[in-house]
Amino acid sequence: MEMIKNQWYLACLLDELKHQNPLPKKIVGEELVIFKTESGKIGVTEDRCCHRNVNLSLGRVEGEAIKCGYHGWEYNTQGACTCIPSLPTGEKVPRTVKIQAYPVEIKHQGVWIYIGDEALKSKATIPPMDELDEFPFVYNYHDCKADLKLAAESLFDAYHINHVHRKSIKSFMGNLGAEDVNFNLNVQHSWMTGEYTRHNEGSIFEKFYFGFDKEIKTKFGFWFPHTSKLDIYFSKRRMVIYEHFYQVDEDTIMMCQITAWEKILNEFPLFFFDKPFMLRKSNKIVEEDLVFLANNKRIKDETGHRDILIQSDAVTFEFSKLWNRNLKANTDEKLVEAEDND
Ligand code: FES
Ligand SMILES: [Fe+2]
Repeated sequence: MEMIKNQWYLACLLDELKHQNPLPKKIVGEELVIFKTESGKIGVTEDRCCHRNVNLSLGRVEGEAIKCGYHGWEYNTQGACTCIPSLPTGEKVPRTVKIQAYPVEIKHQGVWIYIGDEALKSKATIPPMDELDEFPFVYNYHDCKADLKLAAESLFDAYHINHVHRKSIKSFMGNLGAEDVNFNLNVQHSWMTGEYTRHNEGSIFEKFYFGFDKEIKTKFGFWFPHTSKLDIYFSKRRMVIYEHFYQVDEDTIMMCQITAWEKILNEFPLFFFDKPFMLRKSNKIVEEDLVFLANNKRIKDETGHRDILIQSDAVTFEFSKLWNRNLKANTDEKLVEAEDND
């Protein structure tokens, strides 16, 4: 599988970063360490001490630096080595002693990093995930051997919910049957959005929690190559699910699912159930999807079976075209000038 490098990736949520504890992650083949200094600066560097090439994430953060656990060399958020404890007094650390640091942006409660060609950085964008700045949310990470493109689509594939998620969200998200659905697609160069309506068949508890609306309006979106969104409008609360996904290495992908919800004030006592309830639902949704993602013939079969798309796969068809043109541009190492405003 091709690694899609010239993009901003969500390295972690701010909530995951505890001072003193560096966080190791592997994203599109790069082993990284993320750390937060005492003054709150966030650094993302390669997870390697240049002294003896051990993982820096085995060390800890002290003051404004990450300190290697082996012999105590220290690096700042720019990757420069700032201290070698065993240097004779008065001797300075040579400037050439440094490791690779990556560009970082803090946005939507997350740490975004750019891995790739610096010259193409201005072409890459961070998806609009504004709800994470307004609403409470829970998140989880799952890795599996799966096809990235199939994973990208799994959140907004409207017809799989009746089947894959029949035990988790089908009832309150309702049924989408044989009717001819107009998805109202808006397809741009590297992103797309759409919407549809479902019939609410939720249990009394679910209706009490989410609302008694007969029709549930759902909006969805995809931003190449790593983020999908499902935005569900119940009468009592809005639920927004993001999936951020990337290749860890050649055959493993990581999926981070973030579920945010708009809660209605004065909803005592349901308010106290929100986080555990949403986390349980969110985990279940991903686990149900992963069964199918991990067993797809596209990754297991070298014989090249092709998908057969029918009329109701209109969203998949448009998504597939969007994916292919962006993938080609990305792996050609030059991004086609976007004609839209993305
Ligand atoms: S290996 Fe990191 S300080 Fe020696
Ligand atoms: Fe799903």
